[in-house]
Amino acid sequence: MTDLPRHMTPDEFREHGHTVIDWVADYMAGLDARPVMSTASPGDIRAALPERPPQDPEPFGAVLADLERVIMPGITHWQSPNFYGFFSGNSSGPSVLGELVSAGLGVQGMMWATSPACTELETHMLDWMIDLCALPERFRSNRAGGGVIQESASSSTLCALLAARERAGGIGGLDRYVVYASNQAHSSVEKGARIAGIPPDRFRMIEVDAAHALRPDALAAAIAADVATGLVPMAIVATTGTTSSTAIEPVEAMADVAEQYGVWLHVDSAFAGSAAVCPELRFVNAGLERADSYVFNPHKWLLTNFDCSLLYVADREPLLDALSILPEYLRNEASDGGSVIDYRDWQVSLGRRFRSLKLWFVIRHYGASGLQAHIRGHVAMARRFAASVEQHPDFDVVAPVPLSLVCFRHRGGDDVNKAILEAVNASGEIFLTHTVLDGKHTLRLAIGSPATEQRHVDAAWQAIVAAAPSGQPG
Ligand SMILES: Cc1ncc(COP(=O)(O)O)c(C=O)c1O
Repeated sequence: MTDLPRHMTPDEFREHGHTVIDWVADYMAGLDARPVMSTASPGDIRAALPERPPQDPEPFGAVLADLERVIMPGITHWQSPNFYGFFSGNSSGPSVLGELVSAGLGVQGMMWATSPACTELETHMLDWMIDLCALPERFRSNRAGGGVIQESASSSTLCALLAARERAGGIGGLDRYVVYASNQAHSSVEKGARIAGIPPDRFRMIEVDAAHALRPDALAAAIAADVATGLVPMAIVATTGTTSSTAIEPVEAMADVAEQYGVWLHVDSAFAGSAAVCPELRFVNAGLERADSYVFNPHKWLLTNFDCSLLYVADREPLLDALSILPEYLRNEASDGGSVIDYRDWQVSLGRRFRSLKLWFVIRHYGASGLQAHIRGHVAMARRFAASVEQHPDFDVVAPVPLSLVCFRHRGGDDVNKAILEAVNASGEIFLTHTVLDGKHTLRLAIGSPATEQRHVDAAWQAIVAAAPSGQPG
């Protein structure tokens, strides 16, 4: 007989668990003082790790010591109040605790029968989110549609495209299908199309207007031209809140085109969708009631740590037709009876995490009012930042600011803007990223960290101005 490993006992877990919770709480409390970006060079972290795994058990204290010594120097602090890069990756106390419980339960929620609460809480949270964000009723679980939590918007969009392919006629028509999205769509759309079997030469990147949003006339023209040559439009993807500039694409007008040609309409609102918790920001939902599928990520802007991406479909049949396979070893009475949801049929993988638990913790901890305050605070700070930029003689806001992302430029040209970005990021005080709009290097200040306050944003503006050639606050 072989010896069993020496597991961590519940009492040891309790002791180390308290230490780890203290460690995370101290980390949260001290975030403000840390430089935002890791200064590690490629290979630094691996060089600090032993080349080979340990043969024998090590004390847990040694692991925690190495967490400080080896790992922390290689961490970029996404939860820092001074993190303004990309889009935020929100976390929060209740979310982390929900994640801990989920890990503690170690549940695999692939089917209702493998843990009924995992499925039913998920269904319920997706319905709650319809209430919280005023989403179309046809996405609700008691209608023909429904929702599912995926690990990313990329996976959600892939599943939507697979459902679209199914509705268009299945894999038999793959040599003729075409997918359409604007040239500002996230790369995950093209990637999803590619995985679904659509080659790059049948992925159409449609032109955008002056506000960087898809031009419906260009979409209609592209589809008409394709149909005329015998190609089959498979899916149109609208982005509400593009990655570069949070442009809100005209879903209504795109739905007109989609309906005219009978094409699946998917809406990617990965970042912006969370804004719909605020009634005054529900312009992000315009036209959604005509979409076939919709994704948004509470893990971006709704205080729920990665991973938590919500995919809704207006009709679940094509999705299930595309993704269900029932091998004998997964058969069970509940599934056979047809009265339960098996979320394995709504995603690519079989196994699935108990993600709805953290969403439940978050929604109950903050309530609708707390979630609204979180979003509103960021939007207000972004507007004030944009006003400061506008008032400065050397800077311009270069895209509409519907939410909490400000795209702006110094008038000195690309090299000056690159130098400003490099200087402010090198200081460690703040972290910004860039994009290219209208062919020009553009700075992006994306407000999204739960810890960011007005004083942080004001300080960020001062740092940007100080890094600019004139160096004088505006
Ligand atoms: C509009 C949009 N779609 C999709 C994504 C990809 O999200 P995920 O990392 O969840 O796949 C992003 C990421 O920023 C995004 O901005």
